[in-house]
Amino acid sequence: MEQRPLPRLGRQISVVGLGTWQLGADWGEVSQNDAHAVLAAAVQAGVTFFDTADVYGDGRSEQIIGTFLRDHPGLEVLVATKMGRRVPLDPHLYTLENFRAWTDRSRTNLGVDRLDLVQLHCPPPAVYSSDAVYDALDTLVDEQRVAGYGVSVETCEEALTAISRPGTASVQIILNPFRLKPLEQVLPAAAAAGVGTIARVPLASGLLTGRYSAETRFAENDHRTYNRNGEAFDQGETFSGVDFATGVAAAAAFAELAPAGATPAQTALRWIIQQPGLTSVIPGARNPEQARANAAAAALPPLTDETLDAVRDLYDSRIRAQVHHRW
Ligand SMILES: NC(=O)c1ccc[n+]([C@@H]2O[C@H](COP(=O)([O-])OP(=O)(O)OC[C@H]3O[C@@H](n4cnc5c(N)ncnc54)[C@H](OP(=O)(O)O)[C@@H]3O)[C@@H](O)[C@H]2O)c1
Repeated sequence: MEQRPLPRLGRQISVVGLGTWQLGADWGEVSQNDAHAVLAAAVQAGVTFFDTADVYGDGRSEQIIGTFLRDHPGLEVLVATKMGRRVPLDPHLYTLENFRAWTDRSRTNLGVDRLDLVQLHCPPPAVYSSDAVYDALDTLVDEQRVAGYGVSVETCEEALTAISRPGTASVQIILNPFRLKPLEQVLPAAAAAGVGTIARVPLASGLLTGRYSAETRFAENDHRTYNRNGEAFDQGETFSGVDFATGVAAAAAFAELAPAGATPAQTALRWIIQQPGLTSVIPGARNPEQARANAAAAALPPLTDETLDAVRDLYDSRIRAQVHHRW
C-alpha cells in the first residue's frame, strides 16, 4: 500500500486508512469480534491509519482499537482520535484543562501514554481562530500527551483558518465525488503548508457504492435514518449533505463511470486518492470484505481524464446546487 507523509508529524500513513465511527454506534450494532475482524482485514491489506473519536460509541471505538493493538504488539498503525464533542458546543469549553481531561480519557481508552494525533472534532467555528486554543494544543504536545494535533472541519473556510496555524499537522474534511469544493483551495493550501489532508465520508455514507435505491431503509439507530435532515448533527455528515433521492439517482450515473475491474465504491476512493494534495482517505468499513475492497482501491490504475471530467459534469449538473455554497 502506498504510504504518504504527514510532514509535521514526521510519519507516513497509508493512502487508504480506516474510519471507525461504525465500530462505535450510530450505524446499528457491531460486535467486538466483528469489529476486530474489520481492523485485522484492513491491517492485512496494508492499512496503517485508523481514524476514531472519543465520542464514537462514547469511547467504544477507541477501546476496540486499543484492545486490538494490545493483541497485536509491534503493529505500525497511526491512530488519530478526536475530542471536543462530549460537551455542549460552547467555545469556552475548549480549554487546556478540558483538553488534558479529554486526552487522558482517550489515552486510557487506547491504552497509550501518548496519542499519535488528536483532532478537534468539528468544534464551534470561533474555536479555529482562538490563539488560546492553539497555545493549549501546543502545550499538549510539549507535555507529550499527544505527538501532534489537527482539526476535523465542516467547511472549507474552517479548514483554511486552521491550515494557517503553524502547529496544525492535519485537516480532515468531507471530500468525495459529491463534494468537490475542497479541491479549490483547501487541498492546495494544505499541500503548500505541509499539512496532511484526510478525506472523510468518502462514499457519501455508502451512497456512492450504488447499492441503495429509493426503497432502501436503514436501522432506527443508524444516522442515515435519524440525521437525514441534520436533526442530530451537521446534515453534511449524512449522505454528504445530498438529498437521498437525488443521491440515489446520481449514484446510479456515477456507477456507470466505474472502469472494468473496479466497483463504484473503489472508483470513488480511486478518484479521491488521485486528487493532488490528498494524504489519506478513510472509508468506514462494516465488515472485512468492505475493508479489503476499500484497501484494494489504492492499487488500481489512475482514472482517465475522461472519467475525471465526467465526475465533474455529474457534480455540476446534479449535486453542486445542493452542497457547494454550504460547506
Ligand atoms: N466529524 C467528523 O470528524 C467525522 C464525521 C463523519 C465521519 N468521520 C470519519 O470518517 C469515516 C468515514 O466516513 P463514514 O463512515 O461516515 O462514511 P463512508 O465511509 O462514506 O461510508 C461508509 C458506508 O459505506 C458502505 N461501504 C463501505 N465500504 C464499502 C464497500 N467496499 N462496498 C460497499 N459498501 C461499502 C457501508 O455501508 P453499509 O452500512 O450500507 O454497508 C458503510 O457503512 C468515519 O468512519 C469516521 O472515522 C468523521
